[in-house]
Amino acid sequence: MVVDQPHPMYLADGKKYVIGDAVDVLSSIDDADVICLDDAWSRPYRGGQFGVEYDTHPFDHEEDSSTSTKTIVDACMEALKPGGWLIADADDWLLPRLTSYLMEEHGDVNEDYGGGGYRKVGSVTYLSSDETPDRSTPGMYGSTGGYSVVFGHKEETERRWSESVRQVVPRQREKFGWGSVKPILPYQKWVGDLMNPGDHLVVPCAGTAPAALGAEIAFDSSIQYTCIDNEPNAYKAFCRRAQEETTVNTESLEFPEIPNRLSTADEM
Ligand SMILES: C[S@@+](CC[C@H](N)C(=O)[O-])C[C@H]1O[C@@H](n2cnc3c(N)ncnc32)[C@H](O)[C@@H]1O
Repeated sequence: MVVDQPHPMYLADGKKYVIGDAVDVLSSIDDADVICLDDAWSRPYRGGQFGVEYDTHPFDHEEDSSTSTKTIVDACMEALKPGGWLIADADDWLLPRLTSYLMEEHGDVNEDYGGGGYRKVGSVTYLSSDETPDRSTPGMYGSTGGYSVVFGHKEETERRWSESVRQVVPRQREKFGWGSVKPILPYQKWVGDLMNPGDHLVVPCAGTAPAALGAEIAFDSSIQYTCIDNEPNAYKAFCRRAQEETTVNTESLEFPEIPNRLSTADEM
């Protein structure tokens, strides 16, 4: 079930999880310092949405879909302050499309030696329990064992940071009752280096919001964030993750109950 109207769940001063549509909520934000996007894209001609239960949408706008990856990326770039950064997860299908779109619509820093737009490609490599790169989904043409991450920014940026855009972490096994769950550590390192106390992080298509939890670990109460997901159950999964992750200090956070009218019948 997705909701018609955005519904903010207040976690603490400056911290909220909005149950609502990403484009809709992003259109009300113009002060994001960093946005971490793990978009709910779907490849064409692939049924079953890769086994996930949440809403997915095409990369490009189609007649039967008002939301697309392009509209969400544009809304992210609008919501960023000048100099703010976009960090977007991608796979082998999304990566070339997303980087091309960023370059065409928002600029190519590597070509122009200035301005904003596409900056670089990073990655998260998963380690198996024997600490070698994960090969649990090898197929016939090699194994990815992780995912790519695209980094860009809006206009010229003065933010300087040195954390590696290529991170190597144990495979994320716990799913907290949700789909496509990513590890916290890479985002903790990226936002921890890129952001300053008091900054505003936005996490559209948040799910369990590893980037917000990474910011929570890195900055504690001195960071603001807005997570956005159109599924009430994603908020429940976020609350569960925040409370189960021992590295997250939840003392200053509240986890309000979802009002009955927004709750789904599905129990996680
Ligand atoms: C790839 S998952 C994010 C998973 C997240 N990175 C994690 O670690 O839990 C994409 C999320 O986007 C949400 N979503 C799909 N369409 C949306 C929309 N139009 N607005 C907001 N959220 C949306 C889905 O409910 C899902 O939780």
